[in-house]
Formats: sequence, C-alpha cells, structure tokens
Amino acid sequence: MKLRTRPAGLLLSHLLHVKGIDSIVLETRSRKEVEETIRAGVLEQGTVDVMRATGVGARLDRDGFSHNGILLRFSGRDHRIDFPALTGGKKVTVYAQHEVIKDLVQARVDASGDLRFSVREVSAHGLAGRQPKIRFASDDEQHEIACDFIAGCDGTHGVCRSTIPAAALASYDKVYPFAWFGILCQAPPSSDELIYALHDRGFALVSTRSPEIQRMYLQVDPADRVENWSDDRIWEEFRARLQTHDGWQPKEGRILHKVIVGMRSLVTEPMQYGRLFLAGDAAHVVPPTGAKGLNLAAADVQVLAQALVAFYASRSEELLQRYSETALRRIWKAQRFSWWMTSMLHRFPGGDAFQYRVQLAELDYLTHSRPASTALAENYVGLPMETAWS
Ligand code: PHB
Repeated sequence: MKLRTRPAGLLLSHLLHVKGIDSIVLETRSRKEVEETIRAGVLEQGTVDVMRATGVGARLDRDGFSHNGILLRFSGRDHRIDFPALTGGKKVTVYAQHEVIKDLVQARVDASGDLRFSVREVSAHGLAGRQPKIRFASDDEQHEIACDFIAGCDGTHGVCRSTIPAAALASYDKVYPFAWFGILCQAPPSSDELIYALHDRGFALVSTRSPEIQRMYLQVDPADRVENWSDDRIWEEFRARLQTHDGWQPKEGRILHKVIVGMRSLVTEPMQYGRLFLAGDAAHVVPPTGAKGLNLAAADVQVLAQALVAFYASRSEELLQRYSETALRRIWKAQRFSWWMTSMLHRFPGGDAFQYRVQLAELDYLTHSRPASTALAENYVGLPMETAWS
C-alpha cells in the first residue's frame, strides 16, 4: 500500500497501521514545511473522535479548545447557535490543521512508519492492473515502488488526479467572486466563540488559535494584494465590519502574518480509477466558510481505510468498489453546506440589493427558527460518517 500525503494521507497511513496494514507515505515537501503550513482550525466531533479512538488525541485534548457554538453577527447584533442544545450534545474543537499534522507525523515516526519527505518527480503507473507502481526521485536517486493500491492524497495540484484519463472523470466547479484576506495576530481572544459577520462592507470572521494568537479574516476582491493592506487599514476594516449597537471592538495586536486565499467549490467524480483512490483535496475543494476541508479529508480516509481493511481480511473488493459512491454522498452534503454558508455570508459584487436583502432575511429566519438553527448546527458539527471507525 503506497500513498501520498497531506493530512488525508497521514491519517490514512495511521488508520491502516492501527489495523496492521503497511503503507509508505510520499510527501513532496519537507517535514518542517508540512508542519508549518497554516490552514483552518475547526475539527468536527467525528474528526476528534477518530483521533482519540486511534491514540492521537492527547495533545488535542490538552491544547484544543472546545466550542459549544458560533455567533452570527448581522445588522449590528449577535445571534448564537448553540451546538450541544441543537445536536444532542455535539460540539467542535478549535485545533489548527498543522497541529493535527504534527501529531500524525509523530505517531507514524513512533511506530517506525515509512515516511519519505522531500521526494520529487512523482508519477503513478499501471493503475488499471493489479500491481500499480509509483516512481519518484529522492536523494538524487530514482525509485520505483510496486504496491497493491495507491491513495492519491496529494491535494488540488497533485499528480494523482491528473494521472487518471480525463475522459474517465467529471468535474463540478464553482469559483466565487471574492477571496479571504487572513491575518494571524498577537492578541487575546476577542470572543469566546467564532464570529461570522455579514456587513454592508462584506464578510468578516473572528477565529482563534490560542490564548495569545488570533486568526481573523475579511472578504476582499480576489485580485487584491496583501501589500494594499497596512495594519491600520486592516484594523479599521475589522472595526467597521464587526461593529455592533453595543459598541463591540476587536482586541487588536501585532499582525504576524497576512495571506489572501481564493474561494472555490470543486468535486471530481468518481474518486477512483482502477487501483488509485483519491481522497481529500485531490478530489474536492470547499470554500473555507464552515471549515469543512480537513474534516472531509478525514471522513474520506475513514471510508477508504475500512474498505482496505475489508479487502485484506477477505479479499473482497466490494467496499473498495463502492468507495467513491460512499464518500461522495457525504462530500456533496458538505459542499452544499459550504456553498450555502458562503452565499449567505458574503456581499456579492455588482450590488444586487434584492439578493442582499434576501441574505439578511435568511440570517434573520435562521437565527429565530429552531429547525433552521438545527440544520446549521448539525452540519457545522459534522454530519454522521457513512461508516463509523471502530
Ligand atoms: C480558521 O480558524 O482558520 C477558520 C475558522 C472557521 C472557518 C474557516 C477558518 O470557517
């Protein structure tokens, strides 16, 4: 069993190890780069559960923050969505993706797993046969590994998806007319819970990383540049978009990092071709509103790991053949949720005043109807897994 990584690949390798199945993880970046890349930080209940159940939950339990709700802020007021009250006790945990990666890398290293960082020129061959091969370069040597299966967990721009003949795949794609400008700043938390705000000037999000470091985002034009945003301008914009009738102010501090991220929805179907299985961003991308990316990747590999466990136990390929279909049922629901949250919470350029009024009405309805709040809450904490890890 061979695979390429990011969180999906590492988690898959870890889950297979727990069930006694060997794998090799190939990663084009260095261990340091992988462990330092900043991504979203909200873990669904099911992602936390699988990490705990497989022995990689200790640091998460110590350093993660349980969040029992989010605040939706519009028309100058906050409206709280109470997750446990609406979902029978579920919640989310704020714990950064690169921390999840560190925990998984450490677990694989501790178990003497075969992890190869900084590999180059990766290519996959013989996908339709019984023994596919991966070729790659490492330490100036060429390598070829023959294996039973390849898991393509190599992200949107990885080689795995593009190895599949284009005629065998369909892509469903949506690009949004805005992007997120994200900062990390050195300040105490401005709020105990995440704030998703819609304002005439656009979307803003208040998130957190730790008691000392905060993560915040502003909707910007996709063509905007980090250089256009002085620290003063950033804080002025956060103050304006996050204002409330009772004078709320963000806690300001030194800005440590600025980045602009594009917003896109993408699904590639099917997620398998012969003995290659795609998981995580290699098969689908969600816009960050709702923080589903890592959680979807974690759900994919649970489905795939179970199918592989069944294969090695009985040589039955039934679950493997159904992998794409099983994973996509949950993926499309998460796509719908991410698209809906994004559409409801951003100002669409072009000034369609009718649409904006409808968005505000939707927020008003959502925050005053228990069934509508429940729909948001159960999607945010994570819909049930198609297969539970045990
Ligand atoms: C983050 O903390 O980076 C974050 C939180 C919630 C989101 C997206 C990103 O919906």
